[in-house]
Amino acid sequence: MKIKRILFIPLLFLAVLAGAAQERDTLRILSIGNSFSVDAIEQNLHEMAADAGYVYIIGNMYIGGCSLERHANHAESGAADYSYRKIGTDGIRMVREKTPLSYALKDERWDVVSFQQSSPLSGISASYEPWLGRLVRYVKAGVPSASRFLFHQTWAYAQDALNPNYSHYGCDQKLMYRAIMDASKQAVEHYGLEVIPCGTAIQNYRATWYRDNVNRDGYHLNLTGRYIAAATWFCTLSGGDVRGNAYMPLYLTPGQVKAAQEAAFAAYTSPYAVTDFGMRSNTVNYDEARVPKFTLPAMMRCGDGSPVRNRRVWETKRRPELYALFEREMFGRAPEASEKPEAELLESAEGVLGGLADRKQVRLTFRKGRAMDLLIYTPAGAKKPVPAFLGINFHGNHSICSDEAVRMTELDAQQRRYGVYPGMDRDKPESRAARGAQASRWPLERILAAGYGVVTFYRGDIDPDFDDGFRNGVHGIFYKEGQHYPEPDEWGALAAWAWGLSRALDYLETDSCIDASRVAVLGHSRLGKAALWAGASDSRFALVISNDSGCGGAALSRRALGETVEIINRSFPHWFCGNFKKYGGNEDKLPFDQHELLALIAPRPLYVASASLDRWADPKGEFLSAVAASEAYGLYGFRGLKGARMPEPGGSLLSDRMAYHLREGKHDITEFDWLHYIAFADQFLK
Ligand code: GCU
Repeated sequence: MKIKRILFIPLLFLAVLAGAAQERDTLRILSIGNSFSVDAIEQNLHEMAADAGYVYIIGNMYIGGCSLERHANHAESGAADYSYRKIGTDGIRMVREKTPLSYALKDERWDVVSFQQSSPLSGISASYEPWLGRLVRYVKAGVPSASRFLFHQTWAYAQDALNPNYSHYGCDQKLMYRAIMDASKQAVEHYGLEVIPCGTAIQNYRATWYRDNVNRDGYHLNLTGRYIAAATWFCTLSGGDVRGNAYMPLYLTPGQVKAAQEAAFAAYTSPYAVTDFGMRSNTVNYDEARVPKFTLPAMMRCGDGSPVRNRRVWETKRRPELYALFEREMFGRAPEASEKPEAELLESAEGVLGGLADRKQVRLTFRKGRAMDLLIYTPAGAKKPVPAFLGINFHGNHSICSDEAVRMTELDAQQRRYGVYPGMDRDKPESRAARGAQASRWPLERILAAGYGVVTFYRGDIDPDFDDGFRNGVHGIFYKEGQHYPEPDEWGALAAWAWGLSRALDYLETDSCIDASRVAVLGHSRLGKAALWAGASDSRFALVISNDSGCGGAALSRRALGETVEIINRSFPHWFCGNFKKYGGNEDKLPFDQHELLALIAPRPLYVASASLDRWADPKGEFLSAVAASEAYGLYGFRGLKGARMPEPGGSLLSDRMAYHLREGKHDITEFDWLHYIAFADQFLK
């Protein structure tokens, strides 16, 4: 008995000590907020803290758009109106609906409680009172454990936000930012609160060369914005420095993480003014003399160092190896091709387009009701299956010609608002998507008269072209149980579009109007990148055409001229897979370059085209890439563009199985381009 007691006392003592250590490192944070606190603390923050050796328990009392007035009234009336969300020590979030504030206040021994104003009112000081005062009083009385009271300073909207509340601030981001600064400073000083300067951190980041790319709908934060906000909370809560924190969410480049951490830390040290921490310069290089010295990865050497001496080694070893690298590190793995969509003929007619064509509109419906609409024109009255050009369109099937019978494609919400993507065409969002607005890109008469069919669908049918965390496209219908985001080696939007092209081809195999063994896949720009990947991943495509596909398409990444891997990952984080992010500003580490993507298409005919004024896409990089890819064609006895010299603007090269031209003019796909593609296709598909 005595022995037992002797043992027991030190054990108890140790247990108390261990408990105290755990207590000391655990911080319990309760936010009384709205969707802006969801953005700031429900992702990243727990993980960031864990990386620094802290355990954060994070509570968020959420009501969408909730103002201080409503919070104060709810507090006093006991209304059970909140969604109470709590991230526990294990990082898992639980949600309890219909909860009154009093419940949450008692649920944990909170160390920290935060308040915030709803975003429309955040810069209107008069809207804070008397509500903030009443809320602070209520909370202080209800949470004796809390020793820190914070004010979550929210952020100004994206400059081009289309939010009606933005007019309170003259639809001017800087005005809104200043107003939030004044109002938050006043509140913080009046009540002796600590500020969490997210508004300034976001503004700091916007002042870097990453610019105003932190919102997903103009006011809520996208993945980057949420990381910045969490980093700001972390600095305030830990009284420390987030710079160098190793937690890195998917879909942010190392450059973005650095800028975000700097932005947050600078805001922590200077909460009410924008800081320049030296990431403002725009580093786009257009100067040939400043292209870095580089050596292209050896295409004809396998990973194990053995040489590729013949076609057999290429086909059985090197090509699969390269393909797997592109798949894992760049485009991401698409689901198995077992998908059998249902095909429904929506409409068909003969002798349309002035008697030149027959038309068909076919809906392919995938699982969970996701559908894509094919628009198909074939030469009128064709007796036999015809060869065809298949390409995705940017702005809806109805935009490719003025044929009134083409169904108006329902554009995705983002495109309806912004045109191509946020920031573009703000004044005339609908103009690019008007019926026939893209007709110059699809010279149907020419193509049909040459004996080809044309097949197209809208990119947004497969995956809307913006960064929404892959919620709105085809990705979601393939998630495994419990999955909410593609794995780092799983498909981004480009691979999804390429997948869509293959599904269109599946359908064409069943359609007797088209000879599916003679289909040329083509695309302009981002859709050219997708066409190249479709050509690489699906050998049924008989011919592949890349029109001004640029960075991530035909252009060599290592030249880093015009658009770079860093820039493309920043501007279009949804295009490539998560793994590709690590090559931003790090091109030398790429285990391949884009000539090897082109080589995956060998020995099928390949056309690479550039435009002389399209410096952003690096025409020379596209040309050199095609030349370097010729080695793979060489294995089949084709010369490709081996030894070719880059043509002058307006010139074209048509060689054995490969062709290149440098159209005069800007980034676009024009009749000039098409005439060349038709002539090229005539050699192989007729
Ligand atoms: C942007 C982007 C390019 C892309 C182009 C397009 O300019 O940076 O990579 O090719 O859009 O698709 O038009």
